Order: sequence, then structure tokens, then C-alpha cells
Amino acid sequence: MTYELDEIIDRKGTNSMKWEFMHNLSPKAKETTLPSWVADMDFACPPPVVEALHKRVDRRIFGYSSHETERYWQAVTGWFSRRFHWQVDRKDIFIAPGVVPAIATLVNQLTREGEGVIIQSPVYYPFGQVIAGAGRTVVNNPLIETDGYYTMDFDHLEKLAREKNNAMMVLCSPHNPVGRVWTKEELTRVGKSCLENGVILVSDEIHFDLIRGDRKHQVLADLFPGEDGIITCTAPSKTFNMAGMQCSHIVIPREEYQKAWKKERGHALLNPLSIAAVEAAYTECDDWLDQLNAYLDGNMAYIDRFVKDRLPKARHRISEGTYLAWLDLRGYEFTPRELEDRMIEKGDVLFDMGAMFGKEGEGFLRINAACPRPLLEECMNRVEKALL
Ligand SMILES: Cc1ncc(COP(=O)(O)O)c(C=O)c1O
Repeated sequence: MTYELDEIIDRKGTNSMKWEFMHNLSPKAKETTLPSWVADMDFACPPPVVEALHKRVDRRIFGYSSHETERYWQAVTGWFSRRFHWQVDRKDIFIAPGVVPAIATLVNQLTREGEGVIIQSPVYYPFGQVIAGAGRTVVNNPLIETDGYYTMDFDHLEKLAREKNNAMMVLCSPHNPVGRVWTKEELTRVGKSCLENGVILVSDEIHFDLIRGDRKHQVLADLFPGEDGIITCTAPSKTFNMAGMQCSHIVIPREEYQKAWKKERGHALLNPLSIAAVEAAYTECDDWLDQLNAYLDGNMAYIDRFVKDRLPKARHRISEGTYLAWLDLRGYEFTPRELEDRMIEKGDVLFDMGAMFGKEGEGFLRINAACPRPLLEECMNRVEKALL
């Protein structure tokens, strides 16, 4: 079956954060502003998910529900196994309403006040917010950028991992916003640096299904069989455009960490609609995801062509994973403030600006390319207008 990803769906009036709460990010956003900020997609959820929700709604009662069924766990572990050859014991999987709240729990429960948590900037900014908010120290191991390609500074990472006060690392894999899909070699070095120095490794793999072309995502924990100290954060939310369903799966193999997790989240329940949605997504939507990835490949190629043809001072390299594009506008020599003002005032388009991801992101722009092509074309036209 071919899915219709070109369809433009009106999201206004659905409580959409991305479309109706733009003022949360910028007071300058208007009714006409085009949103390209929050990382959700403007594509309909896969039809099997929508059908499963209809069926569940028709049962008419939405009382306390539990996901602790064979059917649920087979759906989740089946996805891990089918898509990543990753065999996970269901007793090691815990649910959370999101990956960010999960990371907050892990930071709170597994580290102490004042201890350091390593991140790699420019990176998804809630990492730093959660760490600092919990009274821990944000320790930065900045990525190295060479001609738009990002790599890790392993010497620096190893030095940080050896420092006694650094208790945890939160890895972003694939990386938001720079779009790297880390290689086995890179992941092995990260894993070894942390494990050999007693640093708890939390690998946020929420974007693991969104991979360009023939590239493959490697689950970090699977590179270390028999090692139980790596925590993996996953979710169907980005993949199937159901972040509002508030369901993520956190794989915590070590018993001691499980106990700590349960102190804060031992009584977590899913709602009946999420359960139905997850089961359908993870059993009936492989084909939909393959088509989505192909569509996103096309969107990324479109952005790349547009930048080459129309934005002479910009630089862009197609991301290896995620549905985000990372556009280097440093050649225009605007301050971060000027760039932000131009986008919203002249372009009437709203982005998560690069500077939000750390000072290494200054002069960059993160484009959310997960939308029907005509919306992306409009978005890029507005970027061009903003820069004139
Ligand atoms: C790397 C990363 N982690 C976590 C999240 C959000 O997770 P959640 O909505 O499950 O809290 C995002 C959303 O963009 C993300 O990019």
C-alpha cells in the first residue's frame, strides 16, 4: 500500500503545540507564522494506528488500564528485534511519559547533587536544562565540526570520564540537531570511556527509526553483550508522530538501577489509547515507516538543492538520521539575535535557533523537515526572504 504523505492536514484547533503555541517560543509569532520548531511531524499517523484508536474508542470506557500483557510486550520487543536485531528482556523495559522525564528521573535517582553529567554540545537543549535543574553540573564535551561534519572529541571525553566527579553521560544517538548516526567504532569508544571509568551511560535513541538511505542505526547497548550498565531510551513518539500519546520505553538492565527507577516511577500506568496506539504502531507499520524514511530522504535532498541554488552563503550537509536539517548560516555574519529576528520578522517562520543548542550552535538554524513537500518549499522560501 502507498501512503499519502503529501497531504496537508490542518492542525489548528487540535491543541497542537507546534501550530497553536508558537508564542511559547516567540512573542513575535503571528497567525501567519509557519512553524518549523517543535520536533513533531505534519504527517498523519499511520492508518493502522488511527484504526486501532477508533476501535478502542468504540469500546467507550477508559478506566485504569495496564500495558502488562503478552501482546504489548511482544509488540515492543518484536520491533527492537525486527528493526535492530536487538533482543531485550521485557522485564528490563520501563515506561515513562517521555524520554525527557525519564532522563530527569535517571539523573535524580542515579547521581548526586553537584556531580557532573557529560553531554555533547550542540545538543538537544532539555538535556542541559534537566541536569542543571536537578542541581547537577553540566559538563560539556563539544562535538568537533569539520566542513559541516561532526565527530566526537574522544581525548577530551576520556579525560572527562576519568574525572571522579563526573557520574553520568547522556548521549544523543542519532544526534539532534547535527544529524549524525554514530558508527559502531564511535559508539564503542563512547561505551568504553564510560564503562571503564564507572560513568553511567544513558543513550537517548529516540530518533533511532529515522535513518537516511541504507544507513543503519546501531543500538549502543547491543555492542556490549553481558554489560548491564547502559540505559537506552526509546520511544514510538517521533517515529509515528504520536508524541502526544506520552509513551516511551526505557531499557534498564541493571537491577540496582531498576530499583532506583521504581522509587520515582514504580506506579506508572499508560492510558488505554496509548496502549492501543503502541501495539498497532509496533506490529503493523513497518511498511509505513519505510515509506516515511524515503519521503524524508526526498525532503532532505530538496533542502540541499535549495541551499546550493538559492542561499549562496549558507552551508548544508544532509543529515544521516532524524528528520532535522542543520543549516549553517554563519557566512551571513548575523548575530544570533539578528538571525532569530530576521527569521520571525522578515521570514515569518519559526525555528529552534542554533544558539538554543549551545554556543557551538550559534549562527545555525534547525529545520524540521518532517512535513509535506509543499510546506517545506514554503519554509525554505521564507528562509531565503529572511536572509535577503
Ligand atoms: C534527542 C531527543 N530526546 C528526547 C526528545 C523528547 O522526548 P519526549 O517528548 O519523549 O520527552 C526529543 C524531542 O525532540 C529529542 O530530540
